[in-house]
Amino acid sequence: MSAPLPEKISTAVVTGGARGFGAQAVRALHKAGYRVIITDVNPGEEAKALASELDLAGDTAITATLDVSKPEDFQTVLDKCIERYGSVEVLVNNAARTAVQNVLDIDPAFFNEVMATNAGGTFAGCQIFGRYFKAQGYGRMINMASLAGQNGGTATGAHYAASKGAILTLTKIFARDLAPFGVTCNAIAPGPMDTPMVRAVLGDTIDNAIAGIPVKKLGDPDFVAKMVVMLAGPDAGFVNGACWDVNGGLYVR
Ligand SMILES: NC(=O)c1ccc[n+]([C@@H]2O[C@H](COP(=O)([O-])OP(=O)(O)OC[C@H]3O[C@@H](n4cnc5c(N)ncnc54)[C@H](O)[C@@H]3O)[C@@H](O)[C@H]2O)c1
Repeated sequence: MSAPLPEKISTAVVTGGARGFGAQAVRALHKAGYRVIITDVNPGEEAKALASELDLAGDTAITATLDVSKPEDFQTVLDKCIERYGSVEVLVNNAARTAVQNVLDIDPAFFNEVMATNAGGTFAGCQIFGRYFKAQGYGRMINMASLAGQNGGTATGAHYAASKGAILTLTKIFARDLAPFGVTCNAIAPGPMDTPMVRAVLGDTIDNAIAGIPVKKLGDPDFVAKMVVMLAGPDAGFVNGACWDVNGGLYVR
């Protein structure tokens, strides 16, 4: 049986939380005492297994379907959370489609699809949760950007890199507009982390890629998840509109 819940427990919604880095962020937030809503386009068994791993009773870790390219899904999840838990305090916009292709080969329709999921999803999440957070007078939004959005990308394609650049700009705009209402919006821009997605993208080139990173290793997703937890906290209110770089020295500014 799980321990009784404290009187006020903060609720965090994580998009793309079923696997990869999103799952690490979910674990770190839960460890820090948050109730976590593990959302994904298709949560499936992985998300359910993660929720059970964190809380068999299903009080502090639950799954929900949320396709970030559908703004109405954000609204549905938000409404259900408010109905069930009374409030939501944190949104982590983590879901993304990672695409690798030469710029001259990208079909414009596919470019738009990647933009719609990555940048459009972050926009919809920040807008829908932002309205609610503003009315509530408190909220934390953390957007997963990428080194690719800063340097144009190395292993990834123009669609992915452009979407991540857009996320950095959106982060500044939501941060500026919502700051007077107790709401912050920040981004994290990782270089390659040691996640299944990075290993799949790099394939046989992984050793070369690591050799090209100044610190000679991939990023630790657990550490980046701790950055999410820091930005999610009530004491992080003076960090707003920021982009926290974590790239092993690949991009220094
Ligand atoms: N892994 C890295 O090294 C790295 C580096 C820089 C930035 N990032 C960013 O961190 C985040 C997580 O990366 P990852 O390595 O875990 O990626 P991943 O591809 O392994 O996981 C992405 C998750 O998003 C979900 N998703 C995809 N489309 C969705 C949609 N339309 N709606 C809802 N969910 C959807 C997937 O199902 C998956 O669970 C991404 O935003 C990525 O761009 C990762």
